[in-house]
Amino acid sequence: MASRLVLAFALSALLFFSHSVLCKDSHPTDDDDEDLSFLEEPTDHGDAAPHNPDSDHYDEDNFDDLGNYSDFDEGGDHEDSYKQPEVDEKDVVVLKAANFSDAVEKNRFMMVEFYAPWCGHCQALNPEYAAAATELKGEDVVLAKVDATEENELSQEYGVEGFPTIFFFIDGVHKPYTGHRTKEGIVTWIKKKIGPGIQNVTTLEDAERILTAESKVVLGYLNSLVGPESDELAAASRLEDEVTFYQTVDPKVAKLFHLDAEVKRPALVLLKKEAEKLSYFDGKFDKSAIAEFVFANKLPLVITFTRENAPQIFESTIKKQLLLFATSKDSEKVFPEFQKAAQLFKGKLIFVYVETDNEDIGKPVSDYFGVTSEAPTVLGYTGNDDGRKFVLDGETFGEDFIEDKLKPFYKSDPIPETNDGDVKIVVGNNFDDIVLDESKDVLLEIYAPWCGHCQSLEPTYNKLAKHLRGIDSIVIAKMDGTTNEHPRGKADGFPTLLFFPAGNKSFDPIPVDCDRTVVAFYKFLKKNASIPFKLQKPASTPKSEGSAATESQGSSSSSDDSKDEL
Ligand SMILES: *[C@@H]1O[C@H](CO)[C@@H](O)[C@H](O)[C@H]1NC(C)=O
Ligand SMILES: *[C@@H]1O[C@H](CO)[C@@H](O)[C@H](O)[C@H]1NC(C)=O
Ligand SMILES: *[C@@H]1O[C@H](CO)[C@@H](O)[C@H](O)[C@H]1NC(C)=O
Ligand SMILES: *[C@@H]1O[C@H](CO)[C@@H](O)[C@H](O)[C@H]1NC(C)=O
Ligand SMILES: *[C@@H]1O[C@H](CO)[C@@H](O)[C@H](O)[C@H]1NC(C)=O
Repeated sequence: MASRLVLAFALSALLFFSHSVLCKDSHPTDDDDEDLSFLEEPTDHGDAAPHNPDSDHYDEDNFDDLGNYSDFDEGGDHEDSYKQPEVDEKDVVVLKAANFSDAVEKNRFMMVEFYAPWCGHCQALNPEYAAAATELKGEDVVLAKVDATEENELSQEYGVEGFPTIFFFIDGVHKPYTGHRTKEGIVTWIKKKIGPGIQNVTTLEDAERILTAESKVVLGYLNSLVGPESDELAAASRLEDEVTFYQTVDPKVAKLFHLDAEVKRPALVLLKKEAEKLSYFDGKFDKSAIAEFVFANKLPLVITFTRENAPQIFESTIKKQLLLFATSKDSEKVFPEFQKAAQLFKGKLIFVYVETDNEDIGKPVSDYFGVTSEAPTVLGYTGNDDGRKFVLDGETFGEDFIEDKLKPFYKSDPIPETNDGDVKIVVGNNFDDIVLDESKDVLLEIYAPWCGHCQSLEPTYNKLAKHLRGIDSIVIAKMDGTTNEHPRGKADGFPTLLFFPAGNKSFDPIPVDCDRTVVAFYKFLKKNASIPFKLQKPASTPKSEGSAATESQGSSSSSDDSKDEL
């Protein structure tokens, strides 16, 4: 897992703790008189020692499985099978801390890659970066690299948190490079930064060369190579990192680019080497209209989800995605329909195809979205920021999706047929009914099956639930956070404990950050429950087994006036 990701989670964990409620008893209150010793009996499982929540939440394994769709674009270090091709890096400049600032001073334009030798994404970038350096040789730009594992201080100085981190320096000022990590992407991007942003096509030879060599180009067919039309085009070009912009006044050149020589100028065409090749611009010839047009049309109608084009999907300003999940075999049948729909919603939705039987990327992405069915499935997804999903149904799905009229779908295990254990089982699809029930104070643990801290919490949690079994207003519940989700129950690592007070379910839950003992949980509930409750001390002797103690608890309520006075 990319270190950047772990770091991000660690930071959010920090935030989480700075906001969460501490329920260690710092203020002596009336319930200190309460004799809670009966809660502390050992169970046959043996109780876990009280946890120090600070230490265990920073463990990496808390963060491991917090899937994030965009992480499919990050990780990458697990690509063991990746074969390193021969790379000729003769044109990539090696920099060390000792000669770094010198290089920054000397070169007006410089790209610098901070890498780690073990990082898979860096290895994949190597040949592209080297080729870009070679192609740009002779231009006023230097492509350099820094081994961040050797140049720790330098990397820290530049805030490098993940690999590769690429900066572009202009006159000593650096900005992150956000373009594609391909030779073509890098070259196009850099040329835009260092050049006029737009190139003239004056001969047919040039035109032919461009059409052969480049996969995405814009040609403006103008009245003049200088002046307002050209200025607007050049300005639009600087807003767009992936497409190269050209201009011409030559009707023959225009014809080669599939523009009618008789067309009214200024005219503009976008050419792609993909299924839907030509897009003609018919808007107002100004920079923002042009940039918008290019943006909406530059992507293929349907993007197949791969590691390489994941950034196009995530970094798009169109956030809403329509994802088709299908096996490679089924895709032949459904793809044409999907493509037709894509045509209709061009510029409004991104259409993505996920090949569910592709083990490398399609399978993990399907799992992330909770798509288990073999049959082709279409989901609407609102992007990583709010992460709502919708299942395709009905003919107006596309419009409804755009207009936010749909009811979201949650990843969910089947709703359990019986759910009468002490600890209630919550899944995505019964979350509303159990956790958001306004008549109950609900404590919810979100766990992961593989998480060690969750396993050691389990006996304590079960014991708490047993003790509280007789209290009707309290629900102790748990949810497997790897197979279920709900926007109101977000995990910040595993286990995450959340408390949802009765009568107040529209507010965010209270994070429970107390010692993980029965007594601490009990005190927390006592303090925070909206509906006051009274726990009866079991009638049986304190020395008896835990199970006997709880079994007697519900029925013996009248016989024993415990010291529980609240
Ligand atoms: C910077 O220093 C390293 C190590 O001494 C050397 O290999 C590299 O060529 C130098 N780079 C430049 C641009 O001088
Ligand atoms: C394109 O041609 C015009 C007119 O000759 C010239 O002023 C301009 O600098 C040229 N642009 C480039 C990028 O060469
Ligand atoms: C997933 O990643 C996106 C983009 O980096 C971020 O905005 C979002 O908060 C992340 N979601 C989770 C649940 O971590
Ligand atoms: C509901 O929760 C909010 C936020 O935690 C709190 O300010 C408010 O007092 C609560 N209301 C009731 C009735 O408990
Ligand atoms: C919840 O209970 C704890 C004590 O266990 C207390 O410190 C905290 O203020 C309570 N939180 C709220 C929101 O009532």
